[in-house]
Amino acid sequence: MITDESFPWDSWRSFPAAQQPNYPDAEHLKNVVAKLRKRPPLVFAGEADALREKMARAARGEAFVLMGGDCAETFDTSTADQIRLKIQTLLQMSVVLTYGASLPVVKVGRIAGQYAKPRSSDTEERDGVVLPSYRGDAVNDNAFNAQARVPDPQRLLETYQQSAASLNLIRAFTKGGYADMRRVHTWNRGFTENPAYARYETLAGEIHRAIMFMEAAGADFEGLKVVDLYSSHEALLLEYEAALTRIDSRSGELYNTSGHFLWIGERTRQLDGAHVELLREIRNPIGVKLGPTATPEDVVGIIDRLNPNGEEGRLTFITRMGAPKIREVLPRLVEAAQSDGRPVAWITDPMHGNTIKTASGYKTRDFETIMNEVEGFFEVLGESKFVPAGMHIELTGDDVTEVIGGSELLDEQRLKERYETLVDPRLNHQQSLEIAFRVAELLRR
Ligand code: PEP
Ligand code: CO
Repeated sequence: MITDESFPWDSWRSFPAAQQPNYPDAEHLKNVVAKLRKRPPLVFAGEADALREKMARAARGEAFVLMGGDCAETFDTSTADQIRLKIQTLLQMSVVLTYGASLPVVKVGRIAGQYAKPRSSDTEERDGVVLPSYRGDAVNDNAFNAQARVPDPQRLLETYQQSAASLNLIRAFTKGGYADMRRVHTWNRGFTENPAYARYETLAGEIHRAIMFMEAAGADFEGLKVVDLYSSHEALLLEYEAALTRIDSRSGELYNTSGHFLWIGERTRQLDGAHVELLREIRNPIGVKLGPTATPEDVVGIIDRLNPNGEEGRLTFITRMGAPKIREVLPRLVEAAQSDGRPVAWITDPMHGNTIKTASGYKTRDFETIMNEVEGFFEVLGESKFVPAGMHIELTGDDVTEVIGGSELLDEQRLKERYETLVDPRLNHQQSLEIAFRVAELLRR
């Protein structure tokens, strides 16, 4: 058990902190943090340990990690239906990937805590009016008026509350029989019956026969019926993450109890920055995003700071280079880690380096460009002593129109039909399943 008492983990305060909100009311923030420190943990040390073990397996090529969910969760869209559809999508993808890889799939949602966003600009301008940028529901409101954009500490409590409610639903869905692989497979049948996806017919048919075979043979083991779905988010807001960092009374070690897996974003991974310092001592498995400007020195520096003893499963690099750059930049980073020798898992985020803006002003991504980055990632890792350990994508279970392409040929004209994301464009339900089929083809052995 983790004790209710909080233990301040405060060394990060003396390091420069990028991307933090400017709270006008310091006293209010202090009160909120004091409250948060008394709230129960959202996840437990044993669960984080189990996920670390699974990440270690993925790094050794004994499992494949599927990490996915919204770019930015919002309070308004954290409804039971939307959470259920997101979970359903992740489960459907994971059945396809499990078959393709012939390996267990480690399922991690960008969910139950992904409410804060780093921004490339501190301000946003519309028609000559300049306001502070929207930084996620954990910080301020997206509405374009001065009042809405003021960072409000109260939102940290709401973030905690929403995360707890989402985790409760996740636990109910994944442990209560709803996630049974045979049920998930019947959902997938709906997808593959659509003629647009004819190219996946063979693979879908094989999966169907494999499931029928298990049924016929009377296989009915626990692993078919219950699923572990872990939570993850970017550890961005230092006050919130520190308030939920606790000492595990059993081991005396520090855990961040706001989510199972935490990652540091491309904009906050400075070696001498507060984010690296905050995650340095916790026992959770953690990730660090690596963009196209990352250097071999960064790679070794991050390992030195975040996994000095080379513990398996502790550190994951999530690469987001952009399709045109991956084959050029990634080899030297992988090479640096290879010479270093300490273990690390490599996961592809084919979303964040491939964002484009259409003439009509929509931020979008192209399905084929996303796939191209995944393929480049598999090629580069295939040449190394590491394995492609997983993928990290932005998706939703809803039928939004935010990413162009895919077999249904969603084009630019259709973006306006159902464009709902407040930050980055997400694969919709169909596109998510399609990417699972494509990656399953890459994983086939
Ligand atoms: C994100 O994952 O939503 C994100 C902002 O990514 P990155 O830090 O890689 O830009
Ligand atoms: Co994003």
